[in-house]
Amino acid sequence: MNISYSEFLEKVKDKLSWVADEVDFVYPYSTIDGLYKNCKVTYHSWTAGFYGGIMWYMYRLTKDDKYKKTGKASGDNVDRVLKEFIEISHDLGFQFLCTAVAENIIDGDETAKNRAIRAATLLAGRFNPVAKYIRAWDDNPYIDGDVSKKGYAIIDCMMNLPLLYWASNETEDPRFRQIANIHADTVIKHFIRPDGSSNHIVDFDSETGDVVATPAGQGYAVGSAWTRGQAWAIYGFAMAYHYTGKQEYLDTAKRVAGYFIDHMNEEYIPIDFAQPKEPAYQDTSAAAICACGLLEIMKYVSGDEKEFYGKCVDRLMNILYNNCDFTKDDQAILQNCSGMYHCGQDNIHIPLIYGDFYLLEALIRLNGGDVLFYTED
Ligand code: GLY
Repeated sequence: MNISYSEFLEKVKDKLSWVADEVDFVYPYSTIDGLYKNCKVTYHSWTAGFYGGIMWYMYRLTKDDKYKKTGKASGDNVDRVLKEFIEISHDLGFQFLCTAVAENIIDGDETAKNRAIRAATLLAGRFNPVAKYIRAWDDNPYIDGDVSKKGYAIIDCMMNLPLLYWASNETEDPRFRQIANIHADTVIKHFIRPDGSSNHIVDFDSETGDVVATPAGQGYAVGSAWTRGQAWAIYGFAMAYHYTGKQEYLDTAKRVAGYFIDHMNEEYIPIDFAQPKEPAYQDTSAAAICACGLLEIMKYVSGDEKEFYGKCVDRLMNILYNNCDFTKDDQAILQNCSGMYHCGQDNIHIPLIYGDFYLLEALIRLNGGDVLFYTED
């Protein structure tokens, strides 16, 4: 990479400025032929808040009202899911942290705070108090037939926990934090393997908490290491440490980071660290999320350890820069993200909105800024 992180951030901001003028709906997911409007997903998607999050970051950076307008519209869109009460999942964290919580913190909107606390209450309501996990998804007979997901918890949920920690801080009610901590403890016990890699899904007996199975999920195979899942674990545990100060959470973030770093190469980040060498599928979104996770860990370490993680971030940012499209040919910036390993070619090597979100977040951190939804000092 032959430019500085401040120049890199400026290039991203320049692109997002014209994209914000062109993109007139509030939950873009990916582009087809360079345009977000060609690739619509439903507004219930777990990704529906990320464009709003990008807009709030851009508003924080520029104070240009065009971003605030779209950020607010994105929050209204996400709130429809709660009003209609359909397709609710554990991803309320992603959806509301990027929109309502950001809106409350950046713009001071009190109704946004209420919306986010309502979302946190529903997320807490997904907690199974006997088996000690937050249920990921509801059953969907149209997709899964008669397979029940009542025992499913997934590693991605680590990144939804900050909504619960935020809600405890706002309400001074420890229940949200307690649920987040119990879930995180379950993840340490049943998801994280001795080598520092993680299962994507654990299917629990919802009456006893016994592990029934560990399905492959979005990764290559049972027992493999879905790369974005490793990144969610790194970032999620580092954030859990930010909110709780529990040493075990920081240690776990470092342990999973160690696995990620030991298995990454300089050229590309695969979809799964255990996938075959060919085809050389990659997922740049995992690189962006991992960079953010390492930058969070770096806040709590010093000396050689900090320098080591800093060098790993540089390697990841180099991969990310090599995959950026700064032209007007595509409304998305980060290319070569992948949704999952086994879901067809149209979900592999595409832009994904959360790739751009975490790329921007990493660059903001590298330029002295902090996370969108951490309460500003
Ligand atoms: N949270 C789903 C994913 O990372 O694809």
